[in-house]
Amino acid sequence: MEPVTLITGGSTGIGAATARTLLKQGHRVAVTARDADRLSAFSAAAGAGDRLMTIPGDTSDDSHVASAVRQTLQAWGRLDNVIANAGFSLPGILTEHTPEAMRAMVLTNVLGPALLVRETLPHLKESRGRIVIVGSVAGVKNTPGNLYSVTKWAAHALAENTRLLVTQDGVGVTLVAPGMVDTPFWDNRGGRPDDAPTMTAVQIADAIAFALNQPEGVDINHITMRPVGQIN
Ligand SMILES: NC(=O)c1ccc[n+]([C@@H]2O[C@H](COP(=O)([O-])OP(=O)(O)OC[C@H]3O[C@@H](n4cnc5c(N)ncnc54)[C@H](OP(=O)(O)O)[C@@H]3O)[C@@H](O)[C@H]2O)c1
Repeated sequence: MEPVTLITGGSTGIGAATARTLLKQGHRVAVTARDADRLSAFSAAAGAGDRLMTIPGDTSDDSHVASAVRQTLQAWGRLDNVIANAGFSLPGILTEHTPEAMRAMVLTNVLGPALLVRETLPHLKESRGRIVIVGSVAGVKNTPGNLYSVTKWAAHALAENTRLLVTQDGVGVTLVAPGMVDTPFWDNRGGRPDDAPTMTAVQIADAIAFALNQPEGVDINHITMRPVGQIN
């Protein structure tokens, strides 16, 4: 049976590249994101027909997360993998953020993955499936006043806490922590440094697929990957 995978934040960047990689491997894929137009553009470009479903909504909204899971199950009857990928970083440091912007980033990057885990665990236990949480090198390193980094430390903790919770239920949990990746993420942050080494979204997608494609009984728990030349 074709595996069914739900990816949050799948309209651009790492999520979109992961969707394409998994579609090529025969998965049925549901992707979410807030901007419905960008989701539709991705769907049209992917050309996967009814093997790709797009579900607009905000990953920090529990009713959207529940609805995304429900729609995926209604369409395909099972859930094998979830990728908690949706996330963003505010530009600047925490003394420069508005409280409202801080709330949005914390809810997206921390509550979002936790809601996804909460909502999908019963189905993943049934399929003996896998969870991938996209963290960051910023989730293993501190830098001055970096609230985004705080959210990614939390995402890393969520991965290990979830693994401890479900490993005896046959569910695998992998944290993928990329360094700098060339995606629209950097537009939101005000652009990446010009000469900084980067990886491609496809390279991160390949690492996610590697974790998903492990044989039954093997659980890759943590992948940290940087472009060669990235020091921090
Ligand atoms: N690029 C890097 O260097 C890098 C490095 C380490 C980790 N990461 C992490 O990788 C993940 C993917 O980022 P990316 O680089 O691929 O950036 P991206 O191209 O900006 O993709 C982010 C995706 O998440 C969606 N998204 C953002 N906030 C959302 C929300 N509240 N609800 C639903 N969807 C939301 C975006 O669509 P909408 O805006 O339409 O919602 C988009 O589809 C993030 O968790 C990021 O923190 C990125």
